[in-house]
Amino acid sequence: GNSGGGKGGDLRFTAVPPNKDDALSIPHGYKSSVVVRWGDPVLPDAPEFDFDNQSAEAQSKQFGYNCDYVTMFPMGRDRALLWVNHEYTAESLMFRGYTDGSLASEEQIKIALAAHGGSVVEIERVGNGGEWKLVTSGRRRYNRRVTAHTPMRFSGPAAGSDLLKTAADPEGRKPIGMLNNCAGGTTPWGTVLTAEENIDQYFINGDKVPEAQKPFIARYTIPSGVPEDSRRFDRVEERFDLEKHPNEANRFGWIVEIDPFDPDSAPIKRTALGRFKHEAATTTLSRDRRLVVYMGDDSRYEYIYKFVSKDRYIPGFDRHNRTLLDEGTLYVAKFTGDSRDSEIDGSGKLPRDGEFDGSGEWIPLVSGDRSYVKGMSAEEVLVYTRVAADKVGATKMDRPEDMERNPVTGGVYVALTNNTNRTAAEADEANPRSANKHGHVLEIVERRDDAAEKSFSWSLPLVCGDPKDPATYFAGYDKSKVSPISCPDNVTFDRDGNLWISTDGNALGTNDGLFVMPVEGRERGHLRQFLSVPSGAETCGPMVTDDQLSVFVAVQHPGEVSGATPDNPASHWPDGAQPRPSVAVVWHGSNKKIGA
Ligand code: FEO
Ligand code: CA
Ligand code: CA
Ligand code: CA
Repeated sequence: GNSGGGKGGDLRFTAVPPNKDDALSIPHGYKSSVVVRWGDPVLPDAPEFDFDNQSAEAQSKQFGYNCDYVTMFPMGRDRALLWVNHEYTAESLMFRGYTDGSLASEEQIKIALAAHGGSVVEIERVGNGGEWKLVTSGRRRYNRRVTAHTPMRFSGPAAGSDLLKTAADPEGRKPIGMLNNCAGGTTPWGTVLTAEENIDQYFINGDKVPEAQKPFIARYTIPSGVPEDSRRFDRVEERFDLEKHPNEANRFGWIVEIDPFDPDSAPIKRTALGRFKHEAATTTLSRDRRLVVYMGDDSRYEYIYKFVSKDRYIPGFDRHNRTLLDEGTLYVAKFTGDSRDSEIDGSGKLPRDGEFDGSGEWIPLVSGDRSYVKGMSAEEVLVYTRVAADKVGATKMDRPEDMERNPVTGGVYVALTNNTNRTAAEADEANPRSANKHGHVLEIVERRDDAAEKSFSWSLPLVCGDPKDPATYFAGYDKSKVSPISCPDNVTFDRDGNLWISTDGNALGTNDGLFVMPVEGRERGHLRQFLSVPSGAETCGPMVTDDQLSVFVAVQHPGEVSGATPDNPASHWPDGAQPRPSVAVVWHGSNKKIGA
């Protein structure tokens, strides 16, 4: 039952202390297992993983690298499809003796291309509790690898735009592959939305595009020339060289919709949702049942966006619902504080009214073929969305990453990971700390709790760091009873409305982890660490199952520590051998609700 009501009464576990262990550490009374690892067979004819004899052919059928967003599509009580993003590759940990992309073998580059994208795998419940495992025999008809080679299509108002046309695709409608898929979301009709984030790193010669294109290339931080750390994908696929194919970069940086139950379907890049370094695509319905998608752009001083569909969601009318992401309005957020500017000095000290809070508005950017931005066409707004948001005066945030709507209260929560570049002069009430190393969490309450509204109120329930640091805030809760937390990255809710936060880049010197915090009632702000991940890893994709018996996490880049190599690994998780990015599941030994 919903006895907690988001008030945290059911969260009785003892917090995992901050640590540097090369292990997945969980609270007393809980159990964990690894569900699927980099290299595990996904397609039924995939070979077993062999670290020292990896091939592109094998990788294209095996679980990819650096698992990120995780979501589940139930097929009855005890079977499900798991969708997992594969964000990026760490070649220096994947290959012995790897130095750089210029010296890499072509096979290594092809392995890296195949290790990107995402996976659909069938999983099954073990026994009657919260443990799940990979299905490793039988037909597994939905199992699928999506990679940097998968044929896709564009839809929405920018499909067919000149800005998306290339020599290989003169119609501008058929992009190949997806890259750097970080966070994501699901739709009410049972598909995945997966977000292409830092796509700049895959291209070279951004300075050799036509003059008119250069400011846009720069705004998306696409490198000039051939950077030393380039993976050199251009050595096996010429399209990654922008001197030869200047529009290719415009074909990445989108929200991609994938139907996990149709393994032959082409993934769809939904252009109506704009192009930036996408994070999250959290869907919800407005009061009149239009589809709303919340999205972040995870770089320093970037923006928070939302999309509101033109038409309504109609339960069961699949053909109609699948058009909703093609027509609607894209907005960007502007935050205004309610305290005096002089009270926001960058120190993180609370203003006199006791809260970092205020009001905000959603500024429209584009709606179908109609642009609301002076000097930019609708197609330009969709393809160069960052530039459009600059022009309308949106609020520059401290790395807006994942977003999630609380199923109990309706509040929309945003993880702002950090921004060490922000100066005291640049501090504002929504980003109140200069040199923000530890990040914060922002709550948006839409007017009338209606996700389609154009105005909202907001506050910061959590300003992260060591609770002993006066420049931290845990919603007013007794700071002697909370866990230290740094660099909130992904967020999710359980059905009781408790906020789960995973971290990336813990600047307090201990390992990253997963935390939980009630957001209502007397326990609001009582943040506790639920697990920690092995050395060098970040925690991604947290997902609490609907039955609340399991929490899944993606353990991304274990052992990714400066100077680590396969001959000198910084982690041996999970096999005691080379580190392997993996999805793990945690459950209570007596099958109690997660957090009990
Ligand atoms: Fe891929 Fe924003 O972390
Ligand atoms: Ca205030
Ligand atoms: Ca992330
Ligand atoms: Ca991250």
